[in-house]
Amino acid sequence: MTAPCAILPDVRPQFPCLDQTVHGKRLTYLDSAATALKPTCVIDAVSEHYARESANIHRGVHALSEQATASFENARESVRTHLNAAHAHEIIFTSGTTASINLVAHSFGQLEIGPGDEILISEMEHHSNIVPWQLLRERCGAVLRVAPMNDSGDIDRDAFRAALNDRTRLVAITALSNALGTVNPVAELIKEAHTAGASVLLDAAQALPLQPMDVQALDCDFLAFSGHKLFGPTGIGVLYGKQTLLDAMPPFLGGGDMIVSVTFDQTTYNDLPYKFEAGTPHIAGAIGLGRALTFIRELGYPAIQAHETALLHDALAALQAIDGVHLIGTPAQRRGIISFLVDQIHPHDLGTILDQEGIAIRAGHHCAQPVMAHYKLAATARASFSIYNNQEDIDHLVAGIRRAQEIFK
Ligand code: ALA
Repeated sequence: MTAPCAILPDVRPQFPCLDQTVHGKRLTYLDSAATALKPTCVIDAVSEHYARESANIHRGVHALSEQATASFENARESVRTHLNAAHAHEIIFTSGTTASINLVAHSFGQLEIGPGDEILISEMEHHSNIVPWQLLRERCGAVLRVAPMNDSGDIDRDAFRAALNDRTRLVAITALSNALGTVNPVAELIKEAHTAGASVLLDAAQALPLQPMDVQALDCDFLAFSGHKLFGPTGIGVLYGKQTLLDAMPPFLGGGDMIVSVTFDQTTYNDLPYKFEAGTPHIAGAIGLGRALTFIRELGYPAIQAHETALLHDALAALQAIDGVHLIGTPAQRRGIISFLVDQIHPHDLGTILDQEGIAIRAGHHCAQPVMAHYKLAATARASFSIYNNQEDIDHLVAGIRRAQEIFK
């Protein structure tokens, strides 16, 4: 018997941002890969913290501080549950994916990577998973290798395997390309990297809103993501790391809360996760992120994926049916993101015309200039889909593109 398909309820009423017009038109928000809209439950969790328990954490002896500390640590537990991490102290709050990757580049880099050691990334990485490794290369003389992708936008698996060798210390790879929507076969890539003796960092910023990531099942060593792409606040993110690695790694930022004792001669560092959380963190952000992850679990990934897969399928068909529209990248497995070009219309012009119609897309290089270079392009238009999008959004996008074609005829 076939299992019944999970059905996503209509979540649009839970997103107040959708309840407005833009330039007098219904808002069609197709830029969730840049940042997702926020549901009322997340907005409430953040404002509740500021309204009722706006105190610092881990330091106070008063009730409000204890309450805020409990909320903050509950948020950490929500992240642990979401990733199925073995321990809550393997969850480090950061300001986002970029900060998480920089933390690993500095701290794991200092521990494990020296002159001639290699870091392997892919051609489809976001700048935040390229530049920190270039900076590390400058600091320590490491070698940065790049596994190429083919024209469909998939990693060249043979080239990936060939790039691994006994000097590879770290493979840092995205689970889902923000520019093309490619879903990478991360479980297989991790196995291959581990066989070569390398640790693995997954950039899950784009993947986690759309697919579960079980860090124990995947056996990844690090995983980074941002709150704002999965319905949480901006300025908050997570680094998951295996306890053995995090324990061995030196602190990245120094300051309050990451120490046990300080004298002018010597400082001893705090236990995990606090060793990596110097200074007052984004308390409200963490609480909002914890609530956003609960929101996702309440909906369930099967329902989220069923909805998003149907939308993606319809949107791909609708765009391909328009003369003069060209999709960029046709990956074997993709989710929620479509990059495309329209003949004779620069992506920025298209974005501006669509904006006048109330349609939000992203136009540009998507912080992935090497992907653009692969296709010999400066920019693409990108539509990205989330749980609150529907068929009407696709119809508006198609009508908006046709309108732009009329204007440029
Ligand atoms: N990384 C974000 C994007 O893909 C900002 O748009």
